[in-house]
Formats: sequence, C-alpha cells, structure tokens
Amino acid sequence: MKTSKKLTEKVTWVGKVDWELSSFHGEELSTHRGSSYNAYLIRDEKVALIDTVWVPFDKEFVKNLKSEIDLKEIDYVIIQHGEIDHSGSLPELMREIPDVPIYCTQNAVKSLKGHYHQDWNFVPVKTGDTLDLGESKLVFVEAPMLHWPDSMFTYMTGENILFSNDAFGQHYATESLYNDRSSECEIYEEAIKYYANILTPFSRQVLKKIDEVLAMNLPVNMIATSHGVIWRHDPLQIVHKYKEWASDYQENQITIVYDTMWNGTKAIAEAIAAGIQLGDPDVTVKLYHAGKEDKNDIITQIFKAKAVLVGSSTVNNGLLSSIASIMELVKGLKFKNKKGAAFGSYGWSGEGVKLITGLLEGAGFEVVNEGFRAMWQPDEEALNAAKEFGKNFAESVK
Ligand code: FEO
Repeated sequence: MKTSKKLTEKVTWVGKVDWELSSFHGEELSTHRGSSYNAYLIRDEKVALIDTVWVPFDKEFVKNLKSEIDLKEIDYVIIQHGEIDHSGSLPELMREIPDVPIYCTQNAVKSLKGHYHQDWNFVPVKTGDTLDLGESKLVFVEAPMLHWPDSMFTYMTGENILFSNDAFGQHYATESLYNDRSSECEIYEEAIKYYANILTPFSRQVLKKIDEVLAMNLPVNMIATSHGVIWRHDPLQIVHKYKEWASDYQENQITIVYDTMWNGTKAIAEAIAAGIQLGDPDVTVKLYHAGKEDKNDIITQIFKAKAVLVGSSTVNNGLLSSIASIMELVKGLKFKNKKGAAFGSYGWSGEGVKLITGLLEGAGFEVVNEGFRAMWQPDEEALNAAKEFGKNFAESVK
C-alpha cells in the first residue's frame, strides 16, 4: 500500500506515522500521542530524498519509496541529523543505491559512520552551501545543538520550505499532516513537552540560530519538521514560540513535586499548595506525585513554572528514588531563572530537605529559604506551619 502524501507539485512526504510509540530515546521520553518520522522526496530536474525513518520501519520505508519512484532516479540523499529515528533506514536504502552521495554535516559523517560503520559517499556541507535541483535549490544551514552537534536545516527555494528536522517538531501521530488540520491544543502540548525535555539545555543556541535564520528574511511557506505536523498555516508561529521558550520561559505558576511513604509529605504538599493560594491568589499551583505521574510531564510543568517546590520523605538517610530521578533530569536540563525550595517529613535522621536543597542549588535554582520539615505524621500545628510556609514562599517569588 502506498502511504506517501503530496505536499506540493515537487515535494512528497514519504515518512512513517508511528501510532503505537509510547516511549522514545529508550524509555527516557514518554510519547502519549505516538510520533512520526517525516521524510521527504523532492522531484525537480534532479531528485533528492531528505531523511529516512527509524530502523523498525526500514523495509516498509524502502518499499513505499519504491512505489513512489525508481530508486535509481534518486540523485542525492540529504541526512539532516544522524540519530537513528531519521537515519535508521539508510543501510536498507543504500544497499540498493550504494553510490548515491549523502549530503550531511561533517559531524553527521562521524555519527553516521559511528552508527552504521559504512563508508558511503559522504559529501560534508556547511552553512550557505547549496545544491541545485533544477528550478529549485537546496540551501543548507548547520544547526549545531538543535539538538545534536550534527544537526542541520535545509531550505528549498521556489517552494519556500524549511526542512527543520527535530527543531519545531512534536511527538504526535497524525494522518492529517498539517498544523491547520490538527488540534492546536494537542500539538502545542506536545511541542512544549518536546522543547522542555530535549531542547532546554540548548536554549542559547536556539535563540542564536533563530535570529540567524530570521535575519535571512527567507519566505517560508511551510516548516517541514521530522516529527509530527508540518507547519503550513502561519508557519513562523512555532519559530516565535521557540524564541519565547528559549528565553528562560516561565508562566505565573508554582509547581510542587513530591513523593511520600506514609502520606506525611503528601499532606505537607497539599498544605503548602493551600498556603500558596493565600500568598498569591493569582498564581497557578500544580501538584505532582513523582512516583505516580509521568516524569516527562512533570518536567514540562517545571519548565512552565517560575518556582518549584520539591518534597520527599527521608529514607535511608536519602531521598525517595522518584525524586532523586527527577532531580537528575532537572540537573541535566539546566533550567535558568527559576526559584525553589524543599520540604518533607521524616521519622529519624531527616536529611531529605537538606539534600533536595543542595540538588536544587546544584541545578542552578535560586533557593529562597531553607525549606520545611515536619517529624512523623504532621499534626494540625505542623500543617498550619506548612500552610504558612506556602504563603510566605508565594509572596517571596511574586
Ligand atoms: Fe528525532 Fe534527534 O532525533
């Protein structure tokens, strides 16, 4: 069955929609709405293929491509990024067309050789290099750390399409292909989750690259990403949204993340939440049990927050494992311009709050106080004190 879809007279989508995908990067990133691996075939006087799809679908990809075109007609393969969700079908494809040149960045030569150990006909490209296809031309733009050192964008003149690979993408399965034919709410939920969990540490590079691309003043009819929808209606909306997200983004939100052994820390979390509303009735408060909720959804809510409260019971002189795990993610994501504090209940030694405080500081948060601790099951007095702590915290981060 042919699954390709025509975007324009010259450009056809030849990717794969993966409705079943529930996690990505192994088990590191949840994908509640599946994903897609978008690849594109350009037919001008010359024929170019931009990217492929993930390894499990390599045979299906090549079969579908063959139903679209005789593979021998492909003059150029463009690989914008070496990660295997986009390059994974290369071995299957290159077995059929082994001499076709592969245009990619110098860093992608390294990652592709590292993944596949093949000495294909690589043609390294730099920003500003072009490839004539006939009426149209491809212009390459290196995009290091969006999100790997090997990433690049490709701009197609004439059709005015920016192929952006992972940037501006979302893990979102859709047959509808375009942003204007999908739920705006759903695609933005997935786009911000993607940014928060993958691109946050590279925000400075994102800002620089966006300014560089916008300064080129290129007409853009579509932004064709490698995951999720193609931005066709008002395509630059996602570029402007990325500028916001890359600029130490925050909403008027306080996010509370906790885990609890016997519900003592949970009771404190809820008392703090009630106190926050007294301290600032306008602030949004979100509460997440780290042991029960999806870690990537929690990270998205930390990304949105101006301040974060993290709580754990003390166990074995340390933290509950879900909190330790979230804090490891938080450290790697290098959030900027966020405030925080710790809380928790304890029975004996009680190091939890101090440990979380240190982890927040190490992750670059401005810790606004020494935290809140209560021994054993918090009684009425302790819960009132937690509420007061929440009120003061909200006032201090206003
Ligand atoms: Fe979609 Fe970085 O791969």
